[in-house]
This record gives sequence, C-alpha cells and structure tokens, in this order.
Amino acid sequence: MTEKKTKKEVISDYNGYDYKKIFWEDADRAYEDQADRMAIRKLLPVKMENFVDIAGGYGRLADEYIHRAKKSTVFDYSKTELKQAKELYGDKIHTKAGDIYSLPFKDNEFDALMMIRATHHFKDMQKVSDELYRVLKPGGVAVIEVANKKTLPRMVRYWTKKTDINPFDKSVANLTEISKDGFFNYHPKYIEEIFAKSGFKIEKVLSVSNFRSGTLKKLFGTKALVKMENLAQAPLASVRFAPSIYYKLVK
Ligand SMILES: C[S@@+](CC[C@H](N)C(=O)[O-])C[C@H]1O[C@@H](n2cnc3c(N)ncnc32)[C@H](O)[C@@H]1O
Repeated sequence: MTEKKTKKEVISDYNGYDYKKIFWEDADRAYEDQADRMAIRKLLPVKMENFVDIAGGYGRLADEYIHRAKKSTVFDYSKTELKQAKELYGDKIHTKAGDIYSLPFKDNEFDALMMIRATHHFKDMQKVSDELYRVLKPGGVAVIEVANKKTLPRMVRYWTKKTDINPFDKSVANLTEISKDGFFNYHPKYIEEIFAKSGFKIEKVLSVSNFRSGTLKKLFGTKALVKMENLAQAPLASVRFAPSIYYKLVK
C-alpha cells in the first residue's frame, strides 16, 4: 500500500497491494474477520434493495450482504481490489471506483450502506460522513465501523507513561508511526458528534474485536474467543473500549 497526495486529501492507495493475501490470508486474523461478520449480521437490514459497501476492498464481507440485497455494489479507490472482487463474485456484485470524498453516486441512491475498517484512512471524517449521508435515502441505514482511540490497552499505555496519546481527549489521534501520512483513530464522542452534524441518528452501537490480542489468541484459541466476542459485543457497547466500534445509523 502506498500513500498518494491528491490536490486536497491523502489517499491510502491499495493499487498493486495484495490486501487479501497479505493482511488476511497470511496473517492470524480469523478472529477479527469473524468479529466483523457477527456485528454486520446483527446490524445490517435483512432485506435491502440497493446496497453499497463503501471502501469495500476486494469484497471480503460480500457474502454477508449479497443475499440480503437486490443490488450490491462494492465501491473502492483501488482498481486492484475491485478486480479481485469481480473475480470472486462475478455478476453477484457491481463495482465502482472513486474517492470517498466525492462519491460518484446520486443523492438518496441507496437504502443501505456499510463502511468497515476504513475510517483509519480518513483525515476529514466530517466530509466522509456528509458524503455517506448524502447518498442514502431518507430512512436508509448506514453500518459504520470506527477505529477507536479510547481503547483499554491505550489507557494502560497512557497511565504507565508509554505514550503521550491521551485516550480520553476527544482530539483525533494521528498514528504516524504506523503510516507516515496518517493513521487516524477517533474518540467515540468526537465521531458521534460528526454523525449527528451530518444528520444521522444512532440506532445501535456494538463493541467489536474486544479480544484483539496475540496473547489472548494463544491462550484461548480463535474458537473460544469468537464465542466470547459474540456475548460481549452488545453489553460492552456502553463503555466503548474496544478497538472497533460499530454504529448502526439511520438517515
Ligand atoms: C483496510 S481496507 C478495508 C476493506 C474492506 N472494507 C474490509 O473490511 O475488508 C481499506 C480500504 O479503503 C480503501 N480506500 C482508502 N482510501 C480511500 C478513498 N479515499 N476512497 C475510497 N476508498 C479508499 C482502500 O482501497 C481499501 O480497500
């Protein structure tokens, strides 16, 4: 993956990067993948007319929605990702390339959308949220995963003075040690104000990937962690400590 500067924004360019193989298949992330899927099953409408997976990559999660929607589109900046999505799902999905900051879709075009594991790439979340709101029909549903700044491990690192990043401070954390052009984590309060400003109402929140830790994976194994994850997602939502916070928003 490379970073590319357009006139206004920095784009995390996945063209030529084999995200599917490198990030998912060659890494021990079965637990994270299952955690995403169970959240999506709990939040996405069972029946949809016109659905779009925003920054959907190679369609990793397409088998969670293609049977629920009459028409499914994967939208992404990377043509490499979209080509893989087409190879995997053929006629079952449409693909569209473009930049999130100006979505190539009409106002009120979709009755539902989701955006998973993408907010860490976006510096201007207000603009992103406004765009998502624009392309949804009134009453439409957006399921959005947000990279959380206020996690438990980060609190421990802050209290033990291993990091200057204050997880309780609402400002955006830009983790340039992960990517020199930015890797953004958001405080739940900050992001919830942004959603409200766009006009969204929060219908449900889930705490996701609660046990994302190499040590816990070794201790309990993926199967047990997935079971614990399923039980934890709803009750832990009120504390918002997990690395991924899932929002079901309604326009
Ligand atoms: C970490 S991947 C997540 C993919 C997918 N949602 C998933 O969960 O497997 C982030 C995706 O965001 C896309 N992306 C990054 N910047 C973008 C932008 N400005 N506009 C559209 N897509 C973008 C990348 O191409 C990549 O496919």
